[in-house]
Amino acid sequence: MEEVYHIPAMLEPTLDGLNIQPGGVYVDVTFGGGGHSRAIMQRLGMEGHLYSFDQDIEAYQNRIDDKRWTFVHSNFRYLDNWLDYYGIDQVDGILADLGVSFHHFDCVERGFSFRFAAPLDMRLNQQQGRTAADLLAATDEESLARVLYLYGELKNGRKLAGRICRACQNRPIRTTDQLVSVVLNGGETPEPLPTGTPIDVQPAQKKDLARLFQALRIELNDEMGALRELLIASRDRLRPGGRIAVLTYHSLEDRLVKNFLRAGNIEGEIEKDFYGNIVSPFRLLEKGRVADQEEVARNPRSRSAKLRVAERN
Ligand SMILES: C[S@@+](CC[C@H](N)C(=O)[O-])C[C@H]1O[C@@H](n2cnc3c(N)ncnc32)[C@H](O)[C@@H]1O
Repeated sequence: MEEVYHIPAMLEPTLDGLNIQPGGVYVDVTFGGGGHSRAIMQRLGMEGHLYSFDQDIEAYQNRIDDKRWTFVHSNFRYLDNWLDYYGIDQVDGILADLGVSFHHFDCVERGFSFRFAAPLDMRLNQQQGRTAADLLAATDEESLARVLYLYGELKNGRKLAGRICRACQNRPIRTTDQLVSVVLNGGETPEPLPTGTPIDVQPAQKKDLARLFQALRIELNDEMGALRELLIASRDRLRPGGRIAVLTYHSLEDRLVKNFLRAGNIEGEIEKDFYGNIVSPFRLLEKGRVADQEEVARNPRSRSAKLRVAERN
C-alpha cells in the first residue's frame, strides 16, 4: 500500500481562519505532505503567491507544480531572512502546523517511533549533524531530567534520566530499541536489534514512551526556540488585517502560542492602556479549537491538535 505522507488536521477551520485573499501573499511554514498548502492554493487567485517552508527535504516530494508557489527548504526560524531575500515586506497570512508528519513516524529508519528498532536519529533536518543518540551521549542526568519533565511532562523524568545516563556510561544508546529496553527495564544497554524489528511494548507503557520520544525530538530539533523566533517574525511581518493560524500538538507549545497571541510578546506580559483595556497587536479569533469527533474517528492523530487563529491589528 502506498504510504500516506500526512493527513492535515482541521483543514477547513484552519483555511477559514486564514481568510485567504485571492491576491494575497501567504506563508505555510510547515509544508509536510502539502495538504494545507494545496487548500490555500485553491483559494488563491492568479495574482496570489504561497511560500511553503519545510526543513525536511523529503517534503519536497509533495511539491506543487504551479508558478504561484515557492518551496523554501529551511527552518521557519529564518522566516524574516527569507522574506527579505524574496523582497517581501509584509504578508497576508501565516500558517504553522507544528511538529512532525505521519511520514516521520512511519519512516522507521528515521528513528521517531518506539514501535520499531532503528538508529536513534530524530533529526527533522537530516543535514543537521547531531542525532538523538549524540544528544544522549553528551547529556548529563540533570539536563536530561529537565528535558523529559519540560517537553514530555514525564513525572518520572528523573528516574528515566537516571536509567539512561547510567546505561550510557558503559555502552552508548544508539538505537530506539536500546533506549526502550533501558527505560523500561533499567540495567545495561543491550545489543541492538536489526532495523525494522518490531519492539515489544505493553499498551500501558505506550503513553510514557510516546512522551519520552517527543521530549527528545523537541530538544534535539530546538522546536521551542524555532517557534519563539517564528512568532516574533510573524508579528512583525503580518500586514494589518493579516491572519496567523497555528496548530499545536502539546501543552508547552500551545501555552507559548496562546500567551504570545494574547500579549504580543514571548513573555506573555499583558500591556494595558490608560483605561485598563488590553493592548495587543492581535485580535483573537480561534482560542484553542479541537478536532470534532467525526474527524478524530477518521484521523485519530488529529486528537491532540489545537487551533489558534489571530488577526494582526
Ligand atoms: C505536522 S507536519 C505539517 C503537515 C502539513 N500541514 C500537511 O498538510 O501535510 C509538520 C511539518 O513541518 C516541518 N517542520 C517542523 N518544524 C519545522 C521548522 N522549525 N522549520 C521548518 N519545517 C518544520 C516538519 O518537517 C513537517 O514536515
